[in-house]
Amino acid sequence: MSRWAIRRCRLMGGDCRLDLAQARAVRGRSPCRAMKTSSAPATSAGTEEEADIVRVVYASRARLDGPASQAMEDIRRSALRHNRPLGIHTALLWQSHWFVQWKEGPRAPLRDLMARVCRDPRHEGLTIVHASQGPRLLDGPWSMAIADAKEPQEAIAGRITALRRAVEAGERFEPQDVWRCLSMPGRHEPAAPAGGEQYQRFLVACTLGTTAFAFVRWLAACRRGRVEHRRFAGLDLDVATELVDFRCGALALPAVGMARKGLKLPLTRALLRGYSHLALLLCPDEARNLALLQRVGEACARLPEPPAVVGVGADPRGHAALHAAAAPLGLAYLAALADPRDCAGTWRALRPLIAGAQ
Ligand SMILES: Cc1cc2nc3c(=O)[nH]c(=O)nc-3n(C[C@H](O)[C@H](O)[C@H](O)COP(=O)(O)O)c2cc1C
Repeated sequence: MSRWAIRRCRLMGGDCRLDLAQARAVRGRSPCRAMKTSSAPATSAGTEEEADIVRVVYASRARLDGPASQAMEDIRRSALRHNRPLGIHTALLWQSHWFVQWKEGPRAPLRDLMARVCRDPRHEGLTIVHASQGPRLLDGPWSMAIADAKEPQEAIAGRITALRRAVEAGERFEPQDVWRCLSMPGRHEPAAPAGGEQYQRFLVACTLGTTAFAFVRWLAACRRGRVEHRRFAGLDLDVATELVDFRCGALALPAVGMARKGLKLPLTRALLRGYSHLALLLCPDEARNLALLQRVGEACARLPEPPAVVGVGADPRGHAALHAAAAPLGLAYLAALADPRDCAGTWRALRPLIAGAQ
């Protein structure tokens, strides 16, 4: 057994070593490997119970006969049946013939579930890339995402190696950083940022129609970049997102356009940690704008440092109402005076607020 596996087994408890060893023998494929573990202090919202929550992120190569969407749906059904009663929350990603799964739950049931999943013939080479104790970050039992990334399988293997090296060099990551690092094509942040490069990301949502997607596509067109489509789903939601690897001077500034309802997904909420700004493209209807701000407040309620909210709208009075409503929600509100249907004007107003002097 590799030293990685032994480290992980210590975290997960003595029996796990046995379980994983058996799983390897049954599968006869690559051993489970794991990285060093870290222990995060519970947040102020943390409880005694949360102090014993284990968070695990692993990657594995898919071995599917049929479409990935069907396999994800089958796994979702199993997970809802088994995970919920055990208090295990999970997010599952399929990308470029890899699975990435983030699981959180009490130590013993999580260890047993991992042993079962490890034996599943629908994947192989399961590698634990993160294991830590700390507060729950996924606030619901199930989220999943399917990405249409056009990268080769080896690209994700490369990112796993980069993460492994960074951890060996003493860096510590939170589960959401690891998830992002594995799932963001072209960006090895945080494991291997290019020398001197600054990195920041922002989310775009709109109160009406699909202006958020139009804006993200416009950003992509400005840089002749590619828009990557992802579908996120929770228990009963199906949400489109579009991602563009945008740059602004020396600042790498990936932008994600997301449908409003996406803010309800546990995975989205967990990933909001690490966004610097959330741009809201407003409409003339003040009630709708306030409702979206309220939804943002709920999504950010558990975040120690919520992203700054930047409202984009042409009406100064609308901004004043949102500014007043943001403070009780614990949100900082910045006003960008522009018509959100005008993408170039929107970026001119947003840029100084998001990218500063870049
Ligand atoms: C990538 C991957 C992730 C999985 N995640 C879970 C999970 O979170 N919970 C679960 O019960 N089963 C999960 N499974 C399925 C299990 O391996 C196993 O098939 C299932 O739990 C068996 O239960 P069932 O016969 O009641 O469906 C996963 C399988 C794969 C390939």
